[in-house]
Amino acid sequence: YRNLRIALLGAGSVGSQVARLLLEHGDELAARVGAGLELIGVAVRDVDAPRDTAIPKHLLTTDAVTLIQSADIVIELMGGIQPARDYITLAINSGADVVTGNKALLATHGPELFALADQVGAQLYYEAAAGGAIPIIRPLRDSLAGDRVNRVMGIVNGTTNFILDRMDVEGDSFENALAVATRLGYAEADPTADVGGFDAAQKAAILASLAFHTAVPVEAVHREGMTTVTAKQVEAAAKAGFVVKLLAICERLVDPATGVEGVVARVHPALISRRHPLAAVHDAKNAVFVQAEAAGDLMFYGAGAGGTETASAVLGDLVSAARRHVAGGPGVGESTHANLPVLGIGAVTTRY
Ligand code: HSE
Repeated sequence: YRNLRIALLGAGSVGSQVARLLLEHGDELAARVGAGLELIGVAVRDVDAPRDTAIPKHLLTTDAVTLIQSADIVIELMGGIQPARDYITLAINSGADVVTGNKALLATHGPELFALADQVGAQLYYEAAAGGAIPIIRPLRDSLAGDRVNRVMGIVNGTTNFILDRMDVEGDSFENALAVATRLGYAEADPTADVGGFDAAQKAAILASLAFHTAVPVEAVHREGMTTVTAKQVEAAAKAGFVVKLLAICERLVDPATGVEGVVARVHPALISRRHPLAAVHDAKNAVFVQAEAAGDLMFYGAGAGGTETASAVLGDLVSAARRHVAGGPGVGESTHANLPVLGIGAVTTRY
């Protein structure tokens, strides 16, 4: 039984939950992989900073470079472009696989990092970079790779969905709803990234690149925020049978001026019919509605933010990366290592 050495960079709201869950459920995950998953260290800026959940002191270090160089798998959850970009580059060049949730970095430097990983045969996993806990990266990249996606419409920012939902359902003001979303920990450090549509535009760039197998840089995403949406407009929309949502829309379109078919990615407030499944996405939840030629309509729904929720996507990537390291480990077939008893209990409740 071999031990895989895991390095974690960053111990913010997601990173600290990844550390906690990995320490708590490490044995269970190890059984799924067929190798031990040893958290060898957590690189932080300040070892004494207060954290959402305690990390054993001996794991904390400010020396990210040494930590990266001794790891099989590096999990980057620092966010921002630098030093994350240098650290991921170093990890790939040191022969490690990388798991990241860094949407800003991927939306701006994704192609360069993927090319480097390809060159040295490393893998870069990023399920947490869009849609938080929602599995959407792999479905677009793998499960739908045999189909032709025509359109992706996503509610990919929880803060703005929370605000618009409160305005719609409770007639709440923009300011008050934003304050609540910030208190609940959904908003970015600077909420301009949320309400201005910048966060959604980064996610749109990632989703469009996957859906259309085409590099779509964030600069190519048309972006409008939702700060100009008024309570009056929300009310008028409701009367007409619509709800206002900030959508990330990625689609195949023919340019009417040139007749050329291409990809369009844009973020702006849009009217959604109350009968559309996206209209039922309340609070800070996210959802991605995919229209594919053969598969038809699909919808992926769940928590798009939150430390523990997003940690789920990160740990899923960690298991995938770890399985790749283990020759003879369980493949993608049936995974029955746990062998839990199957209980003969009938209907406990029929109401959900
Ligand atoms: N601020 C983001 C949101 C967090 O509100 O959805 C997840 O990227």
